[in-house]
Amino acid sequence: MENTFFSRIRRSIFGGPINPETGRKRKQAVFNNLILHIHPRAVPEQTLKFTHTWGLGGMAVVLVMLLLITGILLKLVYEPFPGTAYDSIILIQNDVWFGQLVRNIHHWSANILVIVVLLHMLRVFFTGAFHHPRQFNWIIGLFLFFFVLISNFTGYLLPWDQLAFWAITISTSMVEYIPGVGSWLQKAIRGGSEIGPESLKIFFTFHTAILPACLVILMPFHFWRVRKAGGVVIPRPAKENQGTERRSVPTIPNLVFRELVVALVLIASILVFSIIFNAPLEDKANPGFSPNPAKAPWYFLGIQEMLLHFHPLFAVLVIPLLVTTALILLPYLEYDSDKTGVWFISQKGRRMGIVSAVLALAITPIGVIADEFLMDFSAKLPGVTPLITNGLLPVSIILAAITGFYIQIKRKFFATNNEAIQALLIFLLVSFIILTITGIWFRGQGMALAWPWRIGVME
Ligand code: HEM
Repeated sequence: MENTFFSRIRRSIFGGPINPETGRKRKQAVFNNLILHIHPRAVPEQTLKFTHTWGLGGMAVVLVMLLLITGILLKLVYEPFPGTAYDSIILIQNDVWFGQLVRNIHHWSANILVIVVLLHMLRVFFTGAFHHPRQFNWIIGLFLFFFVLISNFTGYLLPWDQLAFWAITISTSMVEYIPGVGSWLQKAIRGGSEIGPESLKIFFTFHTAILPACLVILMPFHFWRVRKAGGVVIPRPAKENQGTERRSVPTIPNLVFRELVVALVLIASILVFSIIFNAPLEDKANPGFSPNPAKAPWYFLGIQEMLLHFHPLFAVLVIPLLVTTALILLPYLEYDSDKTGVWFISQKGRRMGIVSAVLALAITPIGVIADEFLMDFSAKLPGVTPLITNGLLPVSIILAAITGFYIQIKRKFFATNNEAIQALLIFLLVSFIILTITGIWFRGQGMALAWPWRIGVME
């Protein structure tokens, strides 16, 4: 019997002695066992269709893995101190073998992850996969989304360049508007009154230890809940077909092969993208010189844009709190039907979605421009506190308009409340995307509205 170091290790894992044929079978069994820990033995054939989920949950998993691997590599060289952080990034880019590529993969994967998780969330919503028995998994998903956003945000500061320093200064300054606890919370996040060495230490610890641990713990729980719900959502059988068997196929190779293809295509695309495009790096952070305009990271620019239209208390607290509450309550609302597994509920739901999206596309830019140049409640109501003129008044008008929209669209289309709630959320989503786009491309010096080509070089 072979008695080398490696053969002993192999025997301790697979048992021994091994002849080549049984060895191959055993390895296959171990591999299958591993896969079947996270997947059921068989899956309904319907769920294999790519457009059923667009592979988005799987893509998120691959991206998290890529981030963990490249993050560990970066951590070998990166130094979390204001004096050396920037130089260690330069060192990674110029002197470390494949350092620039590893940084690019980490940077682009992180940004793509935000988009992929958002799309996955929309897929879940538009296929009604948040209804019973998946309500709690929706809540776990919301936590995952929060962790992904905060991971991105804490990583943003680490290069310690102008972009990082001022984006985090702007974002953390928004927290101050929260009444009562705002200044305390801001100090806690920054580790002092300004962004400095303590902030870098806090952000680094969250980014490289606490948040990855949260993700790694919560993700298996999320997958387990998917399994417990009987796999990915599929349309419920019609009443007359209830009790008849659905056609299932073995997970290996049917599902696993498809997952592998999606993972490989995604990794290859990110690799090519990272070879072509470098992650941005500006001059070293200079606390004495603020760029103009100074903007938050792109995924917070919708909120920064709202700050330009509403009283800060409403922009950074009331509106985000209302949205978060709505997202948490969404699976627990009373619905006319719990139709699941069908994209956009029905043909009617689809038509209503299109109408809502078009309306939001037309109304939101008009609102932004009107507020910038025409409307000024504080001038019309002199002496009234801005909390009312810029906060309570416009937000109440918008809430009334949203309620009117819900009632009208439900009545016009003879729709169920599922279809009307979906239409309303599409309206709000498209509006928020437009606010974000406005913040990214249409805000120039002093955050005034401007055409992108007039703004000059900006991030
Ligand atoms: C790091 C973030 C996330 C990862 C890695 C992840 C991963 C996955 C995976 C692999 C699935 C299986 C099916 C599929 O590919 O769609 C899934 C399903 C699901 N996810 Fe996520 N997810 C994440 C975030 C979210 C978010 C933000 C939500 C919603 C708020 C969410 C809610 C759900 C629900 C309800 C299911 C069950 C869907 C069904 O049965 O059709 N997930 N997730």
